[in-house]
Amino acid sequence: MRQFSETELTAAVIRSFDDTPDPRAKFLLQELVKSLHDYVRRTDLTFEEWEYAIDYLTRTGQKCTPIRQEFILLSDVLGVSMLVDAVNHREREGATETTVLGPFYVGEHKVAPHGTDISANLPGDRMFVQSRVTDLEGKPLAGVPVDIWHADDDGFYDSQKASYATEGPSSRARFITDADGRFFFRTILPCSYPIPTDGPVGEMIVQTRRHAMRPAHVHFLVDAPGHQPLITHVFMDGDKYLDSDVVFGVKDELVAKIEKRTDPTMPDGKPAATPWHLMTYEFRMKPGGGSAPKPMMAKATEDA
Ligand code: BEZ
Ligand code: FE
Repeated sequence: MRQFSETELTAAVIRSFDDTPDPRAKFLLQELVKSLHDYVRRTDLTFEEWEYAIDYLTRTGQKCTPIRQEFILLSDVLGVSMLVDAVNHREREGATETTVLGPFYVGEHKVAPHGTDISANLPGDRMFVQSRVTDLEGKPLAGVPVDIWHADDDGFYDSQKASYATEGPSSRARFITDADGRFFFRTILPCSYPIPTDGPVGEMIVQTRRHAMRPAHVHFLVDAPGHQPLITHVFMDGDKYLDSDVVFGVKDELVAKIEKRTDPTMPDGKPAATPWHLMTYEFRMKPGGGSAPKPMMAKATEDA
């Protein structure tokens, strides 16, 4: 048949993928065609709207660089990243909840001794973070690398600043858990911050009257052998954006009470010069395999 009605067209395009050798690729493509055609029919998409969409996606691609992934940002603000996370982590069985990796994981975090102040040269309220990594039974997991990274007092990650190339990382490090599964470090209280808004994603956020803010959080990537890599954040209780995270990444269990303290010493016995905050959070790891994600910069270098 040469000529198709609206619905026959959909069936014909689906059939055109019938001989795809990889069954999963065939399934994904045929389902994609169904959803896309359905969208066009349900919305009576006009030529102008279709052209706008093509131009928007073109500009999204053009905004990408080895260290900027505008398509992932688009996936984030449309809730697709969190949906992919949700369907892949349906059964947590008591393991710590997961959330988005985000674009500011640069990998190759340097191992720092416990207690290190990873934001020593930065202004901000001081915070002591104490944490522990266990299995689902609460048994400590020793020798586990834990990458952490967070935004500074102005809402920027080190990798977003020109000084990153010369001064190196800040508010970013790797700690290795001790025999009791514990690690601890000093830093500053992160603050809420906007996702990058100088591209097509920002344009959509502004035009649709959404805000671009993420509630304050610290990122953790826990990679324990014999367990699924855990990509998550710990959010600061009380943040005004907890209920409206622009990337929909908040889960109740990931919100930690941050205690205000005035004790003259911190939990490791060292003096505190000013009042400080205490974050306490434990990570429970799910048995299994898998490899930790590669950061964008590493992927870009490999592909080059
Ligand atoms: C982040 O938390 O670093 C992040 C996540 C998704 C989009 C933008 C930033
Ligand atoms: Fe973040």
